[in-house]
Amino acid sequence: MVPVIQLVDFRKSYITGEVEVQAVRGVTLTINPGEFVAIMGSSGSGKSTLMNTIGCLDRPTGGKYLLDGIDVGSLNRDELADLRNQKIGFVFQGFNLLARTTAVENVELPMLYRRGGQRFNNPRERALKSLERVGLGKRTDHTPSQLSGGQQQRVAIARALVNEPTLLLADEPTGNLDSRTSIEIMDIFQELNAAGMTLVMVTHELDIASYSTRMVVMRDGRVVTDRPVEQRLNAKQELARLKQEQAAVKLA
Ligand SMILES: Nc1ncnc2c1ncn2[C@@H]1O[C@H](COP(=O)(O)OP(=O)(O)OP(=O)(O)O)[C@@H](O)[C@H]1O
Ligand SMILES: [Mg+2]
Repeated sequence: MVPVIQLVDFRKSYITGEVEVQAVRGVTLTINPGEFVAIMGSSGSGKSTLMNTIGCLDRPTGGKYLLDGIDVGSLNRDELADLRNQKIGFVFQGFNLLARTTAVENVELPMLYRRGGQRFNNPRERALKSLERVGLGKRTDHTPSQLSGGQQQRVAIARALVNEPTLLLADEPTGNLDSRTSIEIMDIFQELNAAGMTLVMVTHELDIASYSTRMVVMRDGRVVTDRPVEQRLNAKQELARLKQEQAAVKLA
């Protein structure tokens, strides 16, 4: 089995003026197909830096990174962009949707960046399917301001999935959402994971991390804990429990 992510002594530092900040200082980590990894750690511990470099948005300053067996360090800019486009879907805390653009057009966007022979010939149809997959088949012509936060995040997930990536990366995907909507997003992630998708998610919340299969904790740019999630939460069960509780409150 080829790991989806293989990091060996992975490093990233930023230089601002005279000061060098070592945001990631030697991370060795292997993530296999079908894993659902939660990355935790206090603010400034290097989680987003790690995600952005794993996601090929940024180049590491040291160490080795194999994505799906491909040595990322050996690629030029265009090759890196192509690899990112084909293999990685991104979901962010702030959704990052285009404001005056409908849901379906937002989802179509990543397909516009595919080059030459890799173009899909039915982008609209694919975008609609992707929206259906996240339960938004009926809101395809709404713009972001006409959608709730949870619905906007679903559009962002549909957009992340439309190129059929190998890996879904999510940096605090529930950071702007209430707890119920957060569980709904975890439900989508668990469904995707059950269908074989590899996911890596940054979160500050232990209960959100408990929907994953493996918890990695960072401190000062290093991994300090890496262990399987023992009492994994099931989003569908949690949602059903919430519904029962609400019904009980209404009766009382
Ligand atoms: N573009 C940048 N230029 C300079 N320093 C940066 C840059 N991005 C991050 N850093 C620094 O790198 C360190 C790690 O930042 P990072 O954003 O990865 O932390 P984080 O764990 O995601 O924190 P948070 O939980 O607040 O999102 C911090 O000290 C930060 O100030
Ligand atoms: Mg961050």
